[in-house]
Amino acid sequence: MAKKTVRDIDVTGKRVLVRVDFNVPLDPKTGAITDDSRIWATLPTIGYLTEHKARVILCSHLGRPEGRIVDRLRMAPVAQRLSKLINLPVLTAPDSIGIEVENLVSQMKEGDILLLENLRFRKEEENDSAFAQGLARLADIYVNDAFGAAHREHASTVGVAKYLPAVAGFLMERELQALGKILSNPERPFCSLIGGAKVSDKLGLLESIVDKVDALLIGGGMANTFLKAKGYEIGRSKVEENKLGVAQSLIAKAGQREIILLLPEDVVVAEKIEAKIPTQIAPITKIAPNQYIVDIGPLTVELFSNELRKCGTILWNGPMGIYEIDQFARGTKAIANFLAGLEATTVIGGGSTAEAVIEMGLETKMTHVSTGGGATLRFLEGKTLPGVAVLLDKE
Ligand code: 3PG
Repeated sequence: MAKKTVRDIDVTGKRVLVRVDFNVPLDPKTGAITDDSRIWATLPTIGYLTEHKARVILCSHLGRPEGRIVDRLRMAPVAQRLSKLINLPVLTAPDSIGIEVENLVSQMKEGDILLLENLRFRKEEENDSAFAQGLARLADIYVNDAFGAAHREHASTVGVAKYLPAVAGFLMERELQALGKILSNPERPFCSLIGGAKVSDKLGLLESIVDKVDALLIGGGMANTFLKAKGYEIGRSKVEENKLGVAQSLIAKAGQREIILLLPEDVVVAEKIEAKIPTQIAPITKIAPNQYIVDIGPLTVELFSNELRKCGTILWNGPMGIYEIDQFARGTKAIANFLAGLEATTVIGGGSTAEAVIEMGLETKMTHVSTGGGATLRFLEGKTLPGVAVLLDKE
């Protein structure tokens, strides 16, 4: 069921509380914002609201301070970056609820923007109803544009919707449409390329997607467990012994459904997982006992590319190698560049895959780059997100 959006409600002159996901990565040394794409992605909603003369009250979490005030997780630098991006002043508040914040809101004029302090400085954000009511007191309308936090059942994502008319922002709408379409009505052939470190992180996704796709391509650290399940010797590469059975049943399921299942045929190997170490390319039948798999090899890039080339829709989630180390990122980069040149619908399923695509400057070449991490995975597993369920349905 489609959700009502800010377009479906009169916001003029109203106080509008907008839950955004400004949980942006920060440089551990300087505290500077290293990627502002989550802020950028909310500009259409904030711009619409200011143009329609709403009083815009933004709220977000940043990090996991767990009810403590942590100075490096204050929202002020985020407010500054937003102000720069939107070219409007952005006020900040000393807290997320309370009399002082209410006074600030009462002084807001039409079109003003206020960013509340980090919601998670208060433990009550974990869905305390008095805190939700405190947030609701600040506004006439609630907008959720925080797709990335919609899997959390918190006061600002779920609780507050009990007390105010609750609609989706444009980012939330775009995420639900793009991700919803690939689950319900993808252009075929539909291929999913899944990587990342562990099978256990993506188990739900693998189990649900194997029923929907025409081809499943597996790379990254998780491919080790699949290769081992198929009887290959993979040296010192990490294997999830307790997931070998799951890997075997996924391989069997792909066989029953007669879909294509591709695993790496060659890999990059190294004797240590560290930068600047010598590497070799090895077929998966020839991995020495002292070697680690660190990336997919060139033959696998070609094999995967040949399959991806045939597809109408591609969902990619998870790097193909140990992406954090430059030398082991070649497979991921080759796949990203290849997808960027395709005509097909390309959906990047958030988290570190989105980071890689953004870092390479390829986000505009993809159909959709999801801003969620856990939320995207949960949605793609076919689960209902609590922060979406509470929003008003379109009639
Ligand atoms: C994310 O970064 O995935 C979201 O902001 C949710 O953050 P959380 O996992 O700390 O709830």
